[in-house]
Amino acid sequence: MKRIGILTSGGDAPGMNAAIRSVVRSGLSQGIEVFGIYDGYQGLVEDKIRQLDRGDVSDIIIQGGTVLGSARLEEFKLLEIRQKAIENLKKHEIEGLVVIGGDGSYRGALALHEMGVPCIGVPATIDNDIASTEYSIGFDTALNTVIDNVDKLRDTSSSHHRCSVIEVMGNRCGDLAIYAGITTGAELIITKETGYDEMEVLERLQHIEESKKKRHAMVIISEKITDVELLAEKISRHTNFSGRSTVLGHIQRGGSPTARDRILATQFGDRAVQLLLNDVSGQCVAVNHGEIVSIDLPEALKIPRRSRKDLFELHERLV
Ligand code: F6P
Repeated sequence: MKRIGILTSGGDAPGMNAAIRSVVRSGLSQGIEVFGIYDGYQGLVEDKIRQLDRGDVSDIIIQGGTVLGSARLEEFKLLEIRQKAIENLKKHEIEGLVVIGGDGSYRGALALHEMGVPCIGVPATIDNDIASTEYSIGFDTALNTVIDNVDKLRDTSSSHHRCSVIEVMGNRCGDLAIYAGITTGAELIITKETGYDEMEVLERLQHIEESKKKRHAMVIISEKITDVELLAEKISRHTNFSGRSTVLGHIQRGGSPTARDRILATQFGDRAVQLLLNDVSGQCVAVNHGEIVSIDLPEALKIPRRSRKDLFELHERLV
């Protein structure tokens, strides 16, 4: 293999740039030319492809986002669209591809692999919802952003005897909410996995206010569960707290990656290149008990998503 391509796909995640840098530098150090594919699979189909050298990835390890740009392309499911992508790879004589993204991006990589294009997936999403890996690139940075914001909200909530309802991302995966809840000592964590009962939430908050004489209550809730503004209004009406809601939104997707994300991304990127150079295809890299491993994509995509109910239960015991 003499030439490989790299793309970032799906929602961006801090640390994607560190992974791009790692792939480029690892490839170049082994005599491989590396091509950047801009705007994910869309750019592959539209031939937005350019060779990258060492200088192109200088200093990007500290930057959030992705210098390659990212996109979601539903049409990549279509055979004729993928054929167009393969034509472009052939045009540039690119023989292997590193795809950085989530499960959706992995499905695209698997489809290309099945059409004869060597592909390796690298997990990156702030949601940490890729079942095949314990951690995905971006999760740690997003978690630290959430912690930072919850700590700030606690200050003002305490001054005003308020209950802050803070909606975090996660796309149906509760990890961000659970990890943020346990690390900020939030009064309540609400996720899809651990269930939501509005009545119970209001009763628990009232109990916290009365029995624990708390000046504030912090509720961390995953997105896509309920309207947090309405919930905050109900808290004002039915408890002695005044309710306020904050949707952290895309703030969670930005920022300079943490040390942990930079290291993970660097290890993943290098392993992806080694796999391609060893003629491995149709796999994704992952971290398992702290070790960097690789797994066949069909198997990886079948693994049921684990939920951190253990951490949730620990939090419930201590709060
Ligand atoms: O997958 C990452 C994520 O940030 C999810 O947490 C969220 O539900 C979704 O992407 C938001 O997507 P968009 O940036 O397209 O609004």
